[in-house]
Amino acid sequence: MTEVVSESVAGDPVVGRISPCRMVELTEHRDPRGSLTVVESGKEIDFVVRRAYYIHHVPDGAERGAHGHRRLRQLIVAVHGSFEVVVDDGYAQRKFLLDDPSRGLYVGPMIWRDMINFAPGTVGLWLVSETYDASEYYRDYAEFLDDARSIA
Ligand code: TYD
Repeated sequence: MTEVVSESVAGDPVVGRISPCRMVELTEHRDPRGSLTVVESGKEIDFVVRRAYYIHHVPDGAERGAHGHRRLRQLIVAVHGSFEVVVDDGYAQRKFLLDDPSRGLYVGPMIWRDMINFAPGTVGLWLVSETYDASEYYRDYAEFLDDARSIA
């Protein structure tokens, strides 16, 4: 994984793809029976969810991600436990801690991401704007960087 730097150090002010990556407050309904948290298209997120998946049983020290997407948008929620997501638009990087099931990280297109520091027992949920298409991924950071910088 590449070194994490602050947004302002490496960031080019004309490149805005990293700033839409942000924590989104979800709607939590709490009562004496516990909590129910909702994500609804058109409310907490501005895309239609075409796919959901979750990651669990992550071994100690394992890192996931290491890819980018051309078009896809997503909301990432640590429904149990915690992990960090490093987002990178080819100019700047930011690291987000996901440790609260009532908040999600929105990640837009043309962002490279790494998921690190999974606490034991963590379950992460991904709500995604597209069905699965392996050709829509960047798996090579140099290729991502070339494209990310050429379309800035
Ligand atoms: P991978 O992209 O490596 O996971 P991560 O984003 O956590 O690093 O995906 C792991 C495997 O799962 C890989 O073989 C592709 C497959 N996969 C699907 O078949 N459908 C999906 O929707 C996703 C996200 C992955």
